[in-house]
Amino acid sequence: MSELFVVRAPRIEGEIQVPGDKSISHRAVMLAAMSNGVCVIRGFLPSQDCRCTAQAMQSLGVVIDQPDPTTLIVHGRRGEFQPPANAIDCGNSGTLMRLLSGMVAGQPFETTLIGDASLSSRPMRRVVEPLSEMGAHFTATEPGTKAPLTIRGTRLKPVHYRLPVASAQVKSAILLAALRASGKTTVIEPVATRDHTERMLDYLLVRSQREEVPDGLAISIYGDQVAESRDFRVPGDISSAAFWLVAAAAQPDADLLVREVGLNKTRTGILSVLLRMGAHVREVVSDCEHGEPFGEIRIQGSRLHGTVIEREEIPNLIDEIPILAVAGALAEGRTVIRNAKELRVKETDRLAAVAANLTAMGVDVVEFDDGLEIYGGAPLMGGRLKSYGDHRIAMAFAVAGMFSDEETVIEDTDCISTSYPGFEEQLESFLSPNDSQPTPVINPAEALEKR
Ligand code: S3P
Repeated sequence: MSELFVVRAPRIEGEIQVPGDKSISHRAVMLAAMSNGVCVIRGFLPSQDCRCTAQAMQSLGVVIDQPDPTTLIVHGRRGEFQPPANAIDCGNSGTLMRLLSGMVAGQPFETTLIGDASLSSRPMRRVVEPLSEMGAHFTATEPGTKAPLTIRGTRLKPVHYRLPVASAQVKSAILLAALRASGKTTVIEPVATRDHTERMLDYLLVRSQREEVPDGLAISIYGDQVAESRDFRVPGDISSAAFWLVAAAAQPDADLLVREVGLNKTRTGILSVLLRMGAHVREVVSDCEHGEPFGEIRIQGSRLHGTVIEREEIPNLIDEIPILAVAGALAEGRTVIRNAKELRVKETDRLAAVAANLTAMGVDVVEFDDGLEIYGGAPLMGGRLKSYGDHRIAMAFAVAGMFSDEETVIEDTDCISTSYPGFEEQLESFLSPNDSQPTPVINPAEALEKR
């Protein structure tokens, strides 16, 4: 198992790019596979999770060429797939398992989805319920709740479904299933979550509707539609940039520019929080190519102060909570994160993992059922910290280690490849700016190794 060794970072300065957005990469491959022709996807994230998605599409008979690690040429099958020969392995990816459930729910065959130990312990009832209402038949190990999931697809009925939890994955699973349903399906989300699926459906000329309703936002899709094949460019992942944004924000003379990063409003919640904590943040949208805005973020550090993260902000920074908790530990005063119970069912229980690691670093932290209260500003102790097999915990605490006078060792860091190939090299270039080669945005050798 790999470990990361981290020491206090010198002044953070320069320009970086981060690998492609994970959420968008998953969706781009799936929707391209459902489309009516050939789609070229550039900027694809060649991480473990997204590779599983490409392999899943291949097991459904989709032809995918990969001329280089970040370019995929996907030959769409007009929404009609082949039965897979074996169970499809979704690895560590909740997004893949949930969206794929929606994709295969309308196929006239049976599909079994399996995952690693972490994924097999995550809740699946949230997709099983609406997709069963549409007519798909599920069997699951713990009835209806956990993977392995076996889905017997069918001709789907449209539904009108209000999401009980704010989840972009569940919303997207229903929208993908809706493409194969016999009428108009509506999903109501009480709080807006990331809207990459809706944007991509618009871009691929799928007929949909969005309207504000008294209890949230209603998104409707008309059934029996096939997406038009179009090429797509994936912007950099703001959730990967987040680690360096916090590192720069918390270092008083830092100055960092992140280029070509996604700036979709449903993902940029972290920027408002860092601004409120005292960092200087400027974002410039340069383009909205293919429906997704992207541009650059310049961040200049300062002595941060604590803040309260509001309930409505949570969905727009859900994956950034571990690194924002580290920001809280580096800030003067109290940082409050509540209404974040969903973090208990991510790749690990992220509230427990963050609380344990902050405590190990000497931070005063109170753990609640739905959040954390962090009293920041004290020096961080180094030592050995667990990743809990969770990529975002590993990376968040590598950044914490950049602020300690003692060495910090993060154990079991192979999980970082789930979302951020090249993280270690980028970290190295911040720790030893003079010895470093320019950081590769992705690690081509690693990306190809699994092909
Ligand atoms: C994702 C949605 C979020 C997020 C996950 C990616 C997506 O999960 O935490 O990392 O791509 O739709 P939930 O839908 O469970 O909130």
